[in-house]
Amino acid sequence: MTRLFAVCGLIAAALASAPGVAAENPAARPANGLALTPPMGWNSWNRFGCNVNEQRIRGAADAMVASGMAAAGYEYVVIDDCWHGVRDAGGNIQPDPQRFPSGLKALGDYVHAQGLKFGIYSDAGERTCGERPGSRGHEFQDAWQYAAWGVDYLKYDWCNTGTQDPHASYLTMSDALRASGRPIVFSICEWGNSKPWSWAKDIGNLWRTSGDIYDHWQGRKEYMLGVMDIVDLQAELYPFAGPGHWNDPDMLEVGNGGMTADEYRAHFSLWAMLAAPLMAGNDLAAMSAETKSILTNREVIAVDQDALGAQGRRVAKNGDLEVWARPLSDGSRAVVLLNRSAGPAAITVRWTGLGYPAHLPASVRDLWQGKSLGKSRGAFAATVPMHGVVMLKITP
Ligand code: GLA
Repeated sequence: MTRLFAVCGLIAAALASAPGVAAENPAARPANGLALTPPMGWNSWNRFGCNVNEQRIRGAADAMVASGMAAAGYEYVVIDDCWHGVRDAGGNIQPDPQRFPSGLKALGDYVHAQGLKFGIYSDAGERTCGERPGSRGHEFQDAWQYAAWGVDYLKYDWCNTGTQDPHASYLTMSDALRASGRPIVFSICEWGNSKPWSWAKDIGNLWRTSGDIYDHWQGRKEYMLGVMDIVDLQAELYPFAGPGHWNDPDMLEVGNGGMTADEYRAHFSLWAMLAAPLMAGNDLAAMSAETKSILTNREVIAVDQDALGAQGRRVAKNGDLEVWARPLSDGSRAVVLLNRSAGPAAITVRWTGLGYPAHLPASVRDLWQGKSLGKSRGAFAATVPMHGVVMLKITP
C-alpha cells in the first residue's frame, strides 16, 4: 500500500512538472507577465462604432504619435468591433476586404512601425455584438491567426454567448493566447455580469466591471451608463486590482463632445484614481487643445500608472461631495475632491482619512494647476466646480 502511494506520488510529481499539465492546477497558472501598469491606448468604438477601416486606424496611429499622446504613454491602437469579414474554407477569420484591403498583417506592421502596439476585438460567442463572426469553437485557430498578424492586445466581448459559462469561455481564450506564443494582453469584456474580479485574475489582464459607458455625466440609458453611474460601481472593487490584473470601468469619453471640460477632467482623474486602463475613445486626429491637455496631463497619468498598482477608494462622502484617495509607491497619496452637485462647493480632505496622523505636516500639489500649494497640517480644503474635481498629491 505504502509503495503504491509512493509510486502514485512520483507519477503525480512527474505530471506536475510536465509542460502543459501544470495548467490543470489552478495554483500553478502563472500570470502572463503583461500590463504591470494599466494599459494605455486608443480604441475605435466610442467615437466611430462600426465605422472602422484601415485608413482610420492608420490615421489614429499617426495622430497618437503626432499629438504627443504616445510620448505621454499611450501605446495600444485597438480596432473594436466590425473589422471582420467571413471565415475562409479552412475556418480562418479574414478582415472585411472592403474596409481592410491591405489585410491586418500590413496594418499591424504599420502600427508597429510607429513604435506602437496593435490590438483587435473578438467575442466569446457565435457572433460579436455587431453580428460579425465570434470566436466560439475557433479560439485556438483565431489566437494563432492574431499572433500571425502581430496582435498585441485582444478585447474579448460577451454577446451571443447563450448558456456559455464565462469562466470557462475566457479560460479557453486565455489558454489559446498563451499557446499562440505571442505576448497578448487579454481584455475581458463581460460587463461585470458574473463578477469577473472574483475569478479572472490569472486569466485576463483587465475585466470590464459594468455595461457600456456613454458620453454623459450621470444617468443610465438602456445598457449604457454615465460616468458617475460607473464610478459608483467601482467603489468596493479596490481589493481586486493590482499589477497585471485591473478593474476596467470602460474606455474614455474625453473629447467626444457630450460633457463639459470640468466633467471630462473629473472622468479622467477618477479613472486615474481607479488604476483604470486609459483607452482614449475620441478622434485623435481632430482633438482640441483642451482635450489634448486633459488626456496628456503627465501628473494625472503618473497616478494611474503608479507602480504600486493600488486602486483608489472613496474615503468620505457627504451627499454629492466626495473624497477619493489612492496610496502611491512613494508613500504619498493621490486625492480627488469630487463635487457631483449642481454648483461650486468647498470640500475638505482630512489626513486621518488618508491613514496619516492629524498632526503631520504634508505638502499639497494641485495636479491640474500643476502647482505646489505649500504645506498643510491635518486637512486641506478647496472650492471645487460643479461636476468637477480638484486633484491633489499629498506628500508627508
Ligand atoms: C459591447 C462592448 C463595447 C463594444 C461593443 C461593440 O457593447 O461592451 O465596448 O465593444 O460591444 O459592438
